[in-house]
Amino acid sequence: MVITIDGPAGSGKSTVARHIARRLNLQYVDTGASYRAAAWLVISYKVDLANESALIELIRSMQYVPGPLMEDMTQRIWVNGTEVTAAIRTPAVSDMTSRLATNAAIRSILVEVQRNLASSGGNGAVLEGRDTGTVVCPNADLKVFLEASPVERARRRANEMAETGSQCDERVVLEQLQNRDNRDSTRSASPLTKAPDAHVVDTDGKAIDVVVNEVLSKLPLNAMAPA
Ligand code: DC
Repeated sequence: MVITIDGPAGSGKSTVARHIARRLNLQYVDTGASYRAAAWLVISYKVDLANESALIELIRSMQYVPGPLMEDMTQRIWVNGTEVTAAIRTPAVSDMTSRLATNAAIRSILVEVQRNLASSGGNGAVLEGRDTGTVVCPNADLKVFLEASPVERARRRANEMAETGSQCDERVVLEQLQNRDNRDSTRSASPLTKAPDAHVVDTDGKAIDVVVNEVLSKLPLNAMAPA
């Protein structure tokens, strides 16, 4: 069974996708983390964004290794043998990520990585991102598009950052989030769009369990049957 969960930053995708992966024993694929890992690598190697062939060569050679979902719902990530779990969440990496994510050639390399990860789960996978229902797994059994207001999304992002010890001002987070939303939804390569067959779920003011149950209630009965 394959479930895709797309939506803008702070819509609750990661939390909801992780809970569903745990409940249904599915492989969890955080596609945003693979874009972040590529951005971390580009920053580490100081590759010029204008040098497309060098960017592509570097990202093609990337060894991207996400660990299993831990008891506390976190997931550790390694790139070329270095743990980057915290390093890929800094504002500098977020900014570089949304720039790289506009490049169609880079996207196609990472989509392959994401599909391989999704098919490595014996029972199936839950993928979260921006284009998992439209591009990565267009034949998913269930497609969900999460929404929340920009203010709520900025508040959640600011809380997440505070938990990892980053200093942040909610107004600055809101501004950065709106800039990234704008870049993510106006780029020509796989912009953030809702698949026509996706179920829209608004997460504003709802507890995680409520959203998870709402998503699970949309699962087609035949998706639960053994293959
Ligand atoms: O979900 P996130 O904040 O970790 O995503 C980081 C960036 O990667 C964000 O700018 C959008 C981009 N992204 C994308 O273009 N396609 C995806 N499937 C996932 C993320």
